[in-house]
Amino acid sequence: MRTNQPQTIHLSEYKVPTYLVDTVDLCFQLYDDGARVHSTLSVRQNPESKDVSAPFTLDGDSLNLERVTLDGKALVAGDDYEETGEHLVITEVPSQFELTVVTWIEPQNNTRLEGLYKSSGMFCTQCEAEGFRCITYFPDRPDVMARYRTRIEADKATCPVLLSNGNDIDRGDLGSGRHFVTWEDPFPKPSYLFALVAGDLVEKQDTFTTCSGRDIDLRIYVETRNAAKCEHAMDSLKRSMRWDEEVYGREYDLDIFMIVAVDDFNMGAMENKGLNIFNSSCVLASQETATDLAFQRIEAIVAHEYFHNWSGNRVTCRDWFQLSLKEGFTVFRDSTFSADMGSPTVKRIEDATLLRTAQFAEDAGPMAHPVRPASYMEISNFYTLTIYEKGAEVVRMIHTLLGPELFRKGSDLYFERHDGQAVTTDDFVKAMEDASGRDLTQFRLWYDQAGTPLLTVSDNYDSEQGVYRLTIQQTIPDTPEQTNKQSQHIPFALGLLGIEGEALPLRLESTGDAANAPTERVLELTEASQTFEFYGLAQKPVPSLLRHFSAPVRVVYPWSREQLVFLMSHDPDGFNRWDAGQRLAVDVIQSLISSPETAEIEPRLVEAYRALLADLSLDQALVAKMLQLPSEAYLIELADSPDVAAIHRARERVLSHLATSLRDELVACYHANTGGGAYEVTPESIARRSLRNTALSWLLLINDDAGRDLAVKQYSDADNMTDRMGALRALVNSDYAAERSQALADFYERFQDDPQVVEQWFAVQASSDRAGQLPQVQTLLKHAAFDWKNPNKIRSVIGVFAGQNLAAFHNPDGSGYGFLADQVCRLDDSNPQIAARLVAPLTRWKKFAPTYSALMHKALGKIRDKPELSADLYEVVHKSLE
Ligand code: PHE
Ligand code: ZN
Repeated sequence: MRTNQPQTIHLSEYKVPTYLVDTVDLCFQLYDDGARVHSTLSVRQNPESKDVSAPFTLDGDSLNLERVTLDGKALVAGDDYEETGEHLVITEVPSQFELTVVTWIEPQNNTRLEGLYKSSGMFCTQCEAEGFRCITYFPDRPDVMARYRTRIEADKATCPVLLSNGNDIDRGDLGSGRHFVTWEDPFPKPSYLFALVAGDLVEKQDTFTTCSGRDIDLRIYVETRNAAKCEHAMDSLKRSMRWDEEVYGREYDLDIFMIVAVDDFNMGAMENKGLNIFNSSCVLASQETATDLAFQRIEAIVAHEYFHNWSGNRVTCRDWFQLSLKEGFTVFRDSTFSADMGSPTVKRIEDATLLRTAQFAEDAGPMAHPVRPASYMEISNFYTLTIYEKGAEVVRMIHTLLGPELFRKGSDLYFERHDGQAVTTDDFVKAMEDASGRDLTQFRLWYDQAGTPLLTVSDNYDSEQGVYRLTIQQTIPDTPEQTNKQSQHIPFALGLLGIEGEALPLRLESTGDAANAPTERVLELTEASQTFEFYGLAQKPVPSLLRHFSAPVRVVYPWSREQLVFLMSHDPDGFNRWDAGQRLAVDVIQSLISSPETAEIEPRLVEAYRALLADLSLDQALVAKMLQLPSEAYLIELADSPDVAAIHRARERVLSHLATSLRDELVACYHANTGGGAYEVTPESIARRSLRNTALSWLLLINDDAGRDLAVKQYSDADNMTDRMGALRALVNSDYAAERSQALADFYERFQDDPQVVEQWFAVQASSDRAGQLPQVQTLLKHAAFDWKNPNKIRSVIGVFAGQNLAAFHNPDGSGYGFLADQVCRLDDSNPQIAARLVAPLTRWKKFAPTYSALMHKALGKIRDKPELSADLYEVVHKSLE
């Protein structure tokens, strides 16, 4: 906690570490009232550092230092070392030495959930990015890689299970009810990958045989009550291990791989070497308690953390500016994995939706930063959609430009060349260049320029010559500290459709024959404006642009509604079919916003939806996605100076018009997709559930009594959480107040002992414009199950209200903003990381219509004026007020 301004750290000031640490010997003595940590480091001067004879500086945060010895000799405070609050400085050291530091810490009072803390009685750690310094003094930076040996001593009854990284090499009894286990990790690693867990846990065990025939011991550790909820994560883990062998040639390297579930966790999960620690909500699942979305999320996150073993752990980051080196690449890997496990088109739609809705907004806001940032104050604020999702898109574009074979050659070279090293995004790109022979110089701008490129596309058709010309202009908007950007290298996939919907050959030369021309091409944009000519076309085609969302850019083209309807049913690219539907719906909603008196809502939209509901030959997973109207958040993102209430009204009006016009089709769709066998998590059955739950929610929106009866029945008969939650959500968002409260009460009664389900119960209310107005949300905060120390509960009420219940949050009286400001201030004292994340919706104040932005600005000012602002919150609030 601080009141003065935190320092800005610049990439340009990177220096190699002065001292290197070869081994770390740790001993943790865990007690109810605290923990003593002995740490012995073998240190030597870094031959690459120019700072000879410099003092040895270690990082520390909130530590009680008990003792320091150098080569066995006790050091004296003031004479031999100094403690400055954030550092331990050992004034004089030889070129090689052994240093022992003893600290006392209080995990039971650690509410920031960084370092060693307690979660439902169990000890656990979170060290990324800078949590290891809350455990002991250490040069806590990722380019200091060491081999760790960890001994844990604790009470046998409360902590029968003692875990750390690597292999367990020794264990024994210590008398007086205590015991110990020693772990050794043979792979050098940065401190942020260190982990320890001690508690009363049960294990679920399995085995995986690797491609070279080694048997790996797989274990998932959970509290006893969750023993039956590990199967899906275990299956996902085995699928991930196999996939990484097959697709990237990566084999697991230790003899044991462990996952632990903890209830109190700031993020989703953490890839600690051999000992992944997961937020319970990202690992535990059963048919009765987890939705399809949760099942898919768990599979993706288990894969993500597992994949980090190579992209992150074996090859790690030189410094935190390189965060996307491991995160962007690993998200790309997990996203390809999910596509392979399910429906690739649907996965692409989901990724693009997240990017276009939330990452584009971030990239246009006050915290916009490049995939490789040039500076930061608090690194925790940079675990962003830009680093993760845009970073993954950047890797995907390399994949598109190189093609799968050369990309694989590049990743092989990268892993081989840099195994055991801490490297940069530039090293990654270099490996891709060296393996492929392609020049990615201009492409590298994707790492250094922030902002979403805007592509403005225009076309004309020369009927005499049969030539179609497409002109694409790119501009990259200014972002904080960056103006006048250079053109980027953008892969732009496209196709052209003829009048019957046929895919036309794309001939870029006037000669050559049409039969050999491909019907899809990836154009490479490199200049501010480029024109492409397509020859041999008998009529003006309909362009299908940026297929598969081949680059994270905005595309502007003057589509007519007719063209969009045509693409919705004819585009061979499923992604662009969906996209055409979204553009059409956006256009219809936007025109209602600008002229709300319009009596008629575009009949072609209704007919297009009718066709979707009727045509059972279509991929039902895609249909389920196409039926989702663009979200309010997306409509806000697309608007200049959005009026949230107007957007909300227009969208609701289109929804109820669709529901009224298609009422009978919806009932039919509901029945067609109900029944039919036992619960499975496959793309087909997920699509069926999604379709019936969408139909249900639309019917309830128009107060259809038959729909209400279906919802009430589905709620009580459901044998899985997707259907139970689908019915509950439909009721909660309806005007059937009696049924809504009855279902909510029943749901709580049924699931009150399951924290992950209670979180869903909070979220479904906080996101509803019916059940989640501010007074009701305030009531949720007083509910017995709400817990100010648990990030999931905080997110499921406050985060969901501010991020998903947009009409209520943006109440024109400013009450939503004031509420968020108060909660953020309160949380800043206990958990600054969470506070800084929750404040995000307010930071976008400049974008909104003046009535909103003035009030948002005022709420931010209130936070800025809070005494003792954390560095986390300071950075976000000050940057957004600048
Ligand atoms: N590195 C984790 C992941 O992406 C995320 C994380 C960051 C978790 C910081 C905790 C703290 O998988
Ligand atoms: Zn990650």
